[in-house]
This record gives sequence, structure tokens and C-alpha cells, in this order.
Amino acid sequence: MGNCCGTKITSSDSGSKSARRNGLSVSRSRVSSASSVPPTPRSEGEILQSANVRSFTFNELKTSTRNFRPDSVLGEGGFGSVFKGWIDENTFAPARPGTGMVIAVKKLNQEGFQGHREWLAEVNYLGQLSHPNLVKLVGYCLEDEQRLLVYEFMPRGSLENHLFRRSSHFQPLSWNLRMKVALGAAKGLAFLHSDKAKVIYRDFKTSNVLLDSNYNAKLSDFGLAKDGPTGDKSHVSTRVMGTYGYAAPEYLATGHLTAKSDVYSFGVVLLEMLSGRRALDKNRPAGEHNLVEWARPYLSNKRRIFRILDARLGGQYSLAGAQTAAALSLQCLSGDSKNRPTMDQVVAALQQLQDTTSNGQQRSSAPSSAHPIPIPIPSRRRRLSASPLSSHSSA
Ligand SMILES: Nc1ncnc2c1ncn2[C@@H]1O[C@H](COP(=O)(O)OP(=O)(O)OP(=O)(O)O)[C@@H](O)[C@H]1O
Ligand SMILES: [Mg+2]
Repeated sequence: MGNCCGTKITSSDSGSKSARRNGLSVSRSRVSSASSVPPTPRSEGEILQSANVRSFTFNELKTSTRNFRPDSVLGEGGFGSVFKGWIDENTFAPARPGTGMVIAVKKLNQEGFQGHREWLAEVNYLGQLSHPNLVKLVGYCLEDEQRLLVYEFMPRGSLENHLFRRSSHFQPLSWNLRMKVALGAAKGLAFLHSDKAKVIYRDFKTSNVLLDSNYNAKLSDFGLAKDGPTGDKSHVSTRVMGTYGYAAPEYLATGHLTAKSDVYSFGVVLLEMLSGRRALDKNRPAGEHNLVEWARPYLSNKRRIFRILDARLGGQYSLAGAQTAAALSLQCLSGDSKNRPTMDQVVAALQQLQDTTSNGQQRSSAPSSAHPIPIPIPSRRRRLSASPLSSHSSA
């Protein structure tokens, strides 16, 4: 990604790993949305032992990705490169390309404890949580300095690519698909916030929403996820981490993390889907760099929302549908986190929108000429180290 977008907010390590989840015991069972999350383990050994995923050797993953061939790179992020690979679906042993089960192998390429911490958090959460809208972690590799993660392969890649990449491979998403993806991602977040999981995701953005062949959305990347507050606590205190453009203002200002921080990020992503614009884009004219700031006045005015809707959508949406989605994103973006809806309420609103659409509402009188907006192809994203704002307790 270019400097225009997706700059990651990270900070150096602080606090002990064991400060999290004190007093909880270890469980081996994997959790589905229908059951409750087992107590989360504390130590690295316990996390790895209790994760219901396979431990791969480095050589197995090297073979399954054909020696991490450059032409099998699916994408690159701050953690490292993601490669396509093949394993036998029963034994999980490396398989010939084109046979067995397709996997995505994420290979850490950065040194230091932050990478290890994110790797471990991923195994910790995805090793226990299971839901149709979370990507499946198949396994991991921990060998000397090597840290890898093995996921189910998501054939349609990330929402980011579909919204912002301009190539024959990525056609503009239709209105109905955008709403389907929004609903799926909202369900994933709602599950994380539910009593079954009680997790704050902390890095909700378009590149972390992956799509299967039917455009079912699945959240990936739990490296920054945190256990939600317990007891009568209203928030968890953290160092500020996440991605600029998506992080909630009160979280950036105080380090106080709540589920409503995720709701804000969801509002940003919904706005990106409605507008086809990136959360931050320095290639835009002055005054339009920050999507939320630019779009806010239009979102609150029913007659002016056409100004922010993606021209590539043409007249695919109903006026009422567009207004509802815009109003929902505005609500999620409320400055006061208490005025933001819960993710359950977001799911209900999007579900209703989808039901209304499938019942055949009238299309809008929006201009139907769908002139593609020239959108720059982003280069690799950059991670930034940001100094902590104050003496927040843990990352
Ligand atoms: N399971 C998967 N199946 C298919 N493609 C994937 C999978 N996981 C990741 N990718 C691709 O690899 C890209 C890089 O993913 P990664 O999570 O490492 O970085 P990112 O989300 O782009 O950035 P960041 O490190 O800031 O989170 C994704 O955007 C996606 O295109
Ligand atoms: Mg990611």
C-alpha cells in the first residue's frame, strides 16, 4: 500500500503476556458459534497445546508452497507474505499443486517480539473460535526463528482488492454483493463481541475481510485482538494499535478499548463500501484525504448522499436502501461511542436491508452511467511504530 493508505499503528511491546487472562484454565476444545468459549490459556505452551489446529514443520510448508515461490504470493501485509499452497485434506501432508486442499500460508518476515506476539494471538484466538464468518486457521509452524500461519484459502481474496484494485480480475462489486459482504463481516464482529467470545477485534479494515467463492465474508488477522473487559469494567486499557483511518477517535486519544471501537471501524469500512474510496487517501484533492471527515456532512443529508456513493454502482441500489446504509454508517461513526449501535443492531439493520432488497424494492433514480473512478493501485503497506500515549497497561 502506498503511504496514502492503511498505515498501521503499532507500538513496542509492553506488559507481560501472562498479565492477560489470569486465573483461567486451559481447554482443548474448539468452539463454534453455538457453544461458549473455553477459558483462554495464559502461557505460550498452553496456547499452542490448546489450539485445535495442526502443528506443521517448516519443511512441510516449504514443500506445500513449492519453496515459497514468488508467483504463488497471494498478498503481503505488515506481518509478511502470504503464499498459496496445497495439502492432503486428510493427512495435511504437503500435496501436489492442484490436488487436495488449498491453503494460504502466512510467513512472518519481521524480527522481534511484536511479530511473535501477533502470531501467538492469532493461534490463541483462531485456535479456539469457530464461526462461519471467521477464517479457519488450519495450523501453524513454530521452528527456530520461523513463525508461519496456515489458513483455509479464500478464493476471492480480500475486500480491499475488490473495492480498490483496478484489474480485469477484480470487477467492481455490485450493490447487493457489497451489502452481503457488509452483513457477513458484521456477523463476524457480532459473534466476537457476544458473550460466547467477548473479544475486541481491534483491526477491522477491508484487507482483513476475506471472501470465499460465494462472497461470504470472513474475518482474518487476530494479531491485535484483545479479550474484552470483564466484570464491571467498561474498557480495556491498551497501547494504541491498529490502522490509521479505522481506529476510533476516543481509542486513539485514550487507549481505552471497547467493542464500540470495532463498531467505529465497521462504520469506516461500510463507508468505504458505499463510496468506493479509501479511508485515507492522500492522492485525493485537499479536503478529501480523510474519508470520514469528507463524507460526514453528506451522510447526514438524505438528498446529498448521492454525492458520496460510488459511481461504479450506477443505479443498482434503491434510494431508501442507500439512505439506510449511509445512516447506519453515520451512526457507527458517532463521536460519542455510546451513540454507536451494537454489532447485533448493525446485523439486524443490514439483515432488514437485505430482506427488503430481495423483496424487490424499486431502484433509485441515481445516475445510471457507471463511469469507473480512477483509483491508484496501492503499493505495500507500511507499519509505523507509534509511541504509547500514556502509561496504558498492556498492548
Ligand atoms: N486465507 C487467505 N486466502 C487468500 N488470500 C489471503 C488469505 N489471507 C491473506 N490473503 C491475502 O494476502 C493479503 C495480505 O494479508 P495480510 O493479512 O498479511 O496483510 P494485510 O491485511 O493486507 O495488512 P496488515 O498486515 O496491515 O493487516 C490479503 O490482503 C489477502 O489478499
Ligand atoms: Mg490482514
